[in-house]
Amino acid sequence: MSSSAIRKKIEALREKIRHHEYRYYVLDDPELSDADFDKLMNELKRLEAEHPELITPDSPTQRVGGKPREGFVKAKHSSPMLSLDNAYSEEELRDWERRVHELSGRTDLEYMCELKLDGMSLALVYKDGQLERGITRGDGSMGEDVTLNVRTVRSIPLSISKDKLKKAGIPADFNFEVRGEMLMPLAAFRKMNEEREKQGLATFANPRNFTAGTVRQLEPSITAQRRMDYFAYFLLKDGRTFFDRQSKTMDAMESAGFKVNPHRKLAKNLDEVWKFIQSWEAKRESLPYEIDGIVIKVDRTSWQRELGFTGKAPRWAIAYKFAARGAVTQIEDIVPQVGRTGKLTPVAWLKPVPIGGTTVSRATLHNMDFIEQLGVKIGDWVEVERGGDVIPKVVKVVEDKDHPRGHKQFEMPEHCPVCGGNVVRTEGEADHRCVNANCPAKLQGTILHFASRHVMNIDGLGEALVNQLTERGLVKNVADLYKLTKADLLGLERMGEKSAENVLSEIEASKKLPLERVIYGLGIRMVGERTAQFLAEHFGSLDAIMKASAEELEEVNEVGPRIAESIVEFFADEHNRKLVGDLRKAGLTFAGQKKEKGTKLAGKIFVLTGTLARHTRDEAKEMIENAGGRVSGSVSKKTDYVVAGSDAGSKLDKARELGVSVIGEEELEKLVG
Ligand code: IVH
Repeated sequence: MSSSAIRKKIEALREKIRHHEYRYYVLDDPELSDADFDKLMNELKRLEAEHPELITPDSPTQRVGGKPREGFVKAKHSSPMLSLDNAYSEEELRDWERRVHELSGRTDLEYMCELKLDGMSLALVYKDGQLERGITRGDGSMGEDVTLNVRTVRSIPLSISKDKLKKAGIPADFNFEVRGEMLMPLAAFRKMNEEREKQGLATFANPRNFTAGTVRQLEPSITAQRRMDYFAYFLLKDGRTFFDRQSKTMDAMESAGFKVNPHRKLAKNLDEVWKFIQSWEAKRESLPYEIDGIVIKVDRTSWQRELGFTGKAPRWAIAYKFAARGAVTQIEDIVPQVGRTGKLTPVAWLKPVPIGGTTVSRATLHNMDFIEQLGVKIGDWVEVERGGDVIPKVVKVVEDKDHPRGHKQFEMPEHCPVCGGNVVRTEGEADHRCVNANCPAKLQGTILHFASRHVMNIDGLGEALVNQLTERGLVKNVADLYKLTKADLLGLERMGEKSAENVLSEIEASKKLPLERVIYGLGIRMVGERTAQFLAEHFGSLDAIMKASAEELEEVNEVGPRIAESIVEFFADEHNRKLVGDLRKAGLTFAGQKKEKGTKLAGKIFVLTGTLARHTRDEAKEMIENAGGRVSGSVSKKTDYVVAGSDAGSKLDKARELGVSVIGEEELEKLVG
């Protein structure tokens, strides 16, 4: 092929891919299967690898590039990026309209109503139709250049054809700026937080904080994995609004190929605005991303200009803020609490507030990273939610005229509040821990965990009793529980004959509980309820688990190198081995049974890479393992199949290099049967 023919072929392929990216990421309406899309992308990658001189920065293959950086460069905005005044009631909204009527001398204004997306505002500068820069809001006049991160967001066009721009009526020289909201969809937020939790990393309080952390991420390939989205809401030319109406701006950006939120309405009066607000306040949970209100903008640009600005916000727009979903209350203090692993968890002591039928007065703040991310201080007002779990969560700091900010910064103590031992934070970890192995808080926490409902279900063994048992030295480890006598218990405060008998019979009954409960109860770091279940099913007995090597442990569903190492370490400790022996002597049965696996994929080694569309990685792993196959982390000659999802990277290249078969999700499903 001649070089111009190749150039043409590459450009045609790019246009095709851009079209399909637009269908998928902007319209949410793909025309191709992921596998077919990947084929196009791989074809383009192959051609570009053969002809590197033809790679252009706006090629769809060039979204992730550049080296990790040390920081960001400041960038000036073409005109200030302002914020909005808020209204919290219909009355405040009507006050705003009254002011607007007075100042403009007209009452026939139309209003553009838009969702107030709860993310982070961001400016995109286009030059000659090519994305040149992405800039955060910063202080409004100066932001940070986050171009490399912005480029990884697939709903943001890297370039727009002049044809398309012309049709949309966009500035003739194709230099313009789009402003809008970067956000993290809820599904991505939940998935990312779950993964972080598994890896022992700090989780994020809400998608907005996650967005902010991601936009300022120094490594663009990490941003790329975080599945961010971007909705445009302004188009500027030389720092000024270009179209004569906000509604036209939105339509034009939409036809140019930007993602513009479809839930918008041009209202003729405030009654219509109010209807729009109420309907979205009721429906907000149905959206796949978070909104915190409705933005109302005077539609005509000329009238916007007449109305002008106050200090930091336009007079021609207002944000109606929805009521908090959880309860709003004040943090009276932040107190570190020592858990069974020695971890110090900062707990917010709240002014008691009713949520869903119970009074909440405590909420966890997880660790210092979480506190810093929320920016929370003692005295702050916060929104507290009770999700699916019982533990209430602080989701954000509230700040408005009725809820001034607090001032007192919380600091982690250097010494354990329970035993006075040293508190350390290991590099790379989010948590502070008390390093004293004999810290009584650890022992009490361990016993309480062992006795809790999901573990050995020993009813009646609560905090007050455990504290007495440990303080008097009657219980030094969980095996000691099985040595307790009625006389021991009767010697304690508030313990009658009947309660003592009850506790003893509860303890007795726990001996018959299945293996997974005991594994969970041992309190091995990073081994939760689910992992304990997988371990029990895989090995069938505690002896087998104790003998397993890290490699063998890694064959278990959801067990990675860190968890495997933690298990090996736990059983390498002679105290822990003795503890297991004592439990056995006490009469615990550790009853377990290996889950029989299929044989369809027996002996076959799989590697998973990229993002699968229909299954999570864990599900795919489970599917393979249930069919007798094994999942490995890296591609080698021994690998039988690489299962590739979208955005598959170096593992896919390696597979091609070694000639390993690459299959998609559907083919995997067929193999499993
Ligand atoms: S207009 C001067 N429109 O809300 C105009 N903002 O509280 C300011 N936001 O910083 C922006 N959705 O991050 C506008 N449809 C929307 C919005 C929106 C979310 C955010 C934006 C802004 C903040 C102001």
